[in-house]
Amino acid sequence: MQKIVVEGGAPLNGEVRISGAKNAVLPILCATLLADGLVTLRNVPHLHDVHTTARLLAELGARVGDGGPGVVTVDPTTVNSHVAPYELVKTMRASVLVLGPLLAKYGHAEVSLPGGCAIGSRPVDLHIKGLQSLGAQISVENGFIKARADKLRGARHVFDIVSVGATENVLMAATLAQGRSVIENAAMEPEIVDLAECLIAMGANITGAGTGRIVVEGVDRLHACEHSVVADRIEAGTFLVAAAMTGGRVTITHARPDTMDAVLDKLRDAGAELDCDGDRITLDMKGRRPKSVDITTMPHPGFPTDMQAQFMALNCVADGVGVINETIFENRFMHVNELLRLGADIRVDGHTAVVRGVPRLSGAPVMATDLRASASLILAGLVANGTTTIDRIYHLDRGYENIEQKLSGLGAKISRIG
Ligand code: UD1
Repeated sequence: MQKIVVEGGAPLNGEVRISGAKNAVLPILCATLLADGLVTLRNVPHLHDVHTTARLLAELGARVGDGGPGVVTVDPTTVNSHVAPYELVKTMRASVLVLGPLLAKYGHAEVSLPGGCAIGSRPVDLHIKGLQSLGAQISVENGFIKARADKLRGARHVFDIVSVGATENVLMAATLAQGRSVIENAAMEPEIVDLAECLIAMGANITGAGTGRIVVEGVDRLHACEHSVVADRIEAGTFLVAAAMTGGRVTITHARPDTMDAVLDKLRDAGAELDCDGDRITLDMKGRRPKSVDITTMPHPGFPTDMQAQFMALNCVADGVGVINETIFENRFMHVNELLRLGADIRVDGHTAVVRGVPRLSGAPVMATDLRASASLILAGLVANGTTTIDRIYHLDRGYENIEQKLSGLGAKISRIG
């Protein structure tokens, strides 16, 4: 099995290009099922989860093509199956996002239940309730969500809890429903806005994406379109934290600073000087040690749970004590035990972690437990004395494009073995 080896000590310096967002491209790939023609997507990151979604679309009968670097085409007109099998869904929870499009387009869908995952039980009840509001009949049998509707009907749906995936499923389904749908307490993530922009390019009638109230006027059909995927704010944030932890100066390009307010504010609190210029952000730490920051994860525009592990790594070497509250997922401190192996001082009580910064971590073999946890271990390795070897890096390849090449380009001593 492949591992990543990091030699700590080098401050990062230079420029790095940010890829398209994993969390935008996955729902958008699922949304292609709604179109009656070829969908061309640009700025598609080369990631394992993108590959899995492409396999799922192909399994349903769509023709997925490689249009050159960063370009993926999907011809959904050949879809002839409406079943998302367990083998694919179990490896990637986002597969559940084919439910809404299949149901809206074909009146029928069967999607395997995703099951648990490392960061918590992550149920799909909100997706099911939302689609039921649009008139779907849904049962859970033999490990599958089985959904039917001759024609979905527009309706007002109020989500109990803000959910990114459930908002996306209902939004996609509503585009082809009869009449007006109003989605209240909708997730406001930039990836929802990007999905809505792609759907609008297909001919959907959507207003309010990016606010808590999305209004969709159903249309009879959606057509071919082209769309460029929004920049990955989590990848961008991860490189900025790496620069801050190593005391370096890094410019990220092709980013979307306007989607990153909460993270940029915390980096300023940590003592970073930031300069945003169009799609570029320069972080200069001027060789200083970062200051500890307190973090509470929240739905957008609050601080993203997908950046929690990276800021935990920053607090491990920062000056002072930082308190981290995880409010989105029940079990998202799996990286703590691994960071302790590197010499961190962290105490966990329920959903709260208290991190006392130490002047220096020390390299050790560690194990990645989930996607963002893997990133936090690389960040810690960059500032640890000696060598850190990170095992189970397949998690990393699900969500970071060429991370070791990108970090090497900034002067990090990092390589992949095995
Ligand atoms: C998405 C992101 C993930 C991010 C998360 C929160 C993608 C592909 N993944 O995941 O990277 O960490 O948003 O920003 O975009 N919940 C229920 N019932 C449901 C659905 C969710 O109780 O039916 C709960 C979850 O357990 C969690 C909370 O709602 O506690 C928010 O989860 P949600 O926003 O749905 O996350 P995902 O869409 O799965």
